[in-house]
Amino acid sequence: MKHLLGTRGLPRDAAIALLDIAEDMAAVQEREVKKLPTLRGKTVVNLFFEDSTRTRISFEAAAKRLSADVITFSAKGSSVSKGESLKDTAQTLQAMGADGVVIRHQASGAPQTLATSGWIDAGVVNAGDGTHEHPTQALLDAFTIRRRLHGADSRGRDLDGIRVVIVGDVLHSRVARSNVWLLSTLGAEVELVAPPTLVPVELSAWPARATYDLDAALANAPDVVMMLRIQAERMHAAFFPNTREYSRTWGLDDARFHRLPPSTMVMHPGPMNRGLEIAARAADSAQSTVREQVANGVSVRMAALYLLLSGDRGGLS
Ligand code: NCD
Repeated sequence: MKHLLGTRGLPRDAAIALLDIAEDMAAVQEREVKKLPTLRGKTVVNLFFEDSTRTRISFEAAAKRLSADVITFSAKGSSVSKGESLKDTAQTLQAMGADGVVIRHQASGAPQTLATSGWIDAGVVNAGDGTHEHPTQALLDAFTIRRRLHGADSRGRDLDGIRVVIVGDVLHSRVARSNVWLLSTLGAEVELVAPPTLVPVELSAWPARATYDLDAALANAPDVVMMLRIQAERMHAAFFPNTREYSRTWGLDDARFHRLPPSTMVMHPGPMNRGLEIAARAADSAQSTVREQVANGVSVRMAALYLLLSGDRGGLS
């Protein structure tokens, strides 16, 4: 594998190999010296055309902990037309000798364009493109679930038989899409719960089922409840009456949280709209994996950069 553009079509064994390497990387994070020399002399460019806090910082930390040189380029606000600016930027990266490019872009498909255009030789990692995919988020979510369930015995395991309920703004969520592909490849059963206005038409072709009653979905004691952020910045119409109504019908509020079995994990990719899709009590509870997800993100991104850039592809060819 030269690029990591999505989880759709990512083979099960390749996904498990990446998660296993992330376990090794997590072990490195527990040492006093958190750094490996693996990518010494390589240059990783973080190209962020869209806002990001945790993903940008996480990729930066991951590349630095592998001893790569890291250049972060925040291109948000550029007034050049998208195609042109991407090509111009790519040519600059090529001239700088970038070995890896981590790209977040508001246009679905931009990382694919960068990887296949011939503009650059670098390996491309998709850090979120429009409403399309966010593969490292899904990988860190799978890693987090596997670790919570199996701890030190996680290596080599998939998520066979795990029941995951993903709730909220599925329409605009690249996190939901990448998770649907990856979790189903790993054997999990995925149910999407959303207002009918926030269910994409293409969902009928996904390996997941869509339902509209959150209380019914939660009554089945899922192993994981993953809440999605309401992506107001991508909404150019009214998809629900008001925020109070949304949170009453689709939010993980205190009452719903208290009805969950203590073993159900509560996940959220961040940033959270507290009080809208998730109540503070649920987000800050022992069942919440929100902080683990952030910590695990560094390990998973180290694994991805390692596999793409070190020359040792771990079977991911
Ligand atoms: C997600 C994203 O950007 O797609 N956030 C993230 O990467 N941590 C989810 C979101 O913005 O809601």
